[in-house]
Amino acid sequence: MGLNVLVSTSVLSCDFGKLAEALKLCETSGADRVHVDVMDGHFVPNISIGPVIVSAVRRYTRLPIAAHLMIENPWDYIESFALAGADIIALHAECYGERRLACRAYGEYPKEIDSLDIVSAQRDIALIRKFGKEPCLVLNPGTPLSVIDPVLPSLNSVLLMSVNPGFSGQKFMSSALPRISSLRSRFQGDIVVDGGVNEATAPDVVRAGANVLVTASYFFGSPDPAATVRSLKALGQ
Ligand code: DX5
Ligand code: ZN
Repeated sequence: MGLNVLVSTSVLSCDFGKLAEALKLCETSGADRVHVDVMDGHFVPNISIGPVIVSAVRRYTRLPIAAHLMIENPWDYIESFALAGADIIALHAECYGERRLACRAYGEYPKEIDSLDIVSAQRDIALIRKFGKEPCLVLNPGTPLSVIDPVLPSLNSVLLMSVNPGFSGQKFMSSALPRISSLRSRFQGDIVVDGGVNEATAPDVVRAGANVLVTASYFFGSPDPAATVRSLKALGQ
């Protein structure tokens, strides 16, 4: 295939008491990026970590850091994550548009939209670039791909969720595959896939056109993490 597949290891499944060791393992295993899942208990039904941990991650690895912001009002935190040392800041499209009725209220998940507020999305994409960082727009599985069409030309990176966000270790949703192919047919940039990526699902994900694979439980649960990264990267060859 000749595609350069990048592996982005998500620390959500690491032992946070041994964060520095986990980051070292990402590096020595050949991972290309570290993925940090930021959750606020409002956009998703779970709470994880924030900028203070991103700055700790920054001190212990030279790998690029992708901050995946699963939070309400992400615009309030772009500066904090940029200053904390994130290289890529991933914003959920669902934060830029009116939520579907079924997920509008507090505690109703997953959050989904049918149209994007282009002006505010562009404003935040520009703000991320102003800090010299790479913006990425993320779509939940139930949000139509077409909502991001108007902003696609201003992006180098789109992340498609292949689980409803909030937890690692969930089952890959195969409905992600036609979405990856459809996006690849009109987008040359990075297509990142996040959720349930493992040896069984990754071949189809890459075949569909994704080039960045996020993995938490598969990588950190592997008896041989370096072999795991090698096998994922080999899918592009
Ligand atoms: C889910 C997170 C993912 C998660 C992936 O909300 O965005 O990054 O950590 O976990 P695995 O690879 O175990 O599905
Ligand atoms: Zn993630």
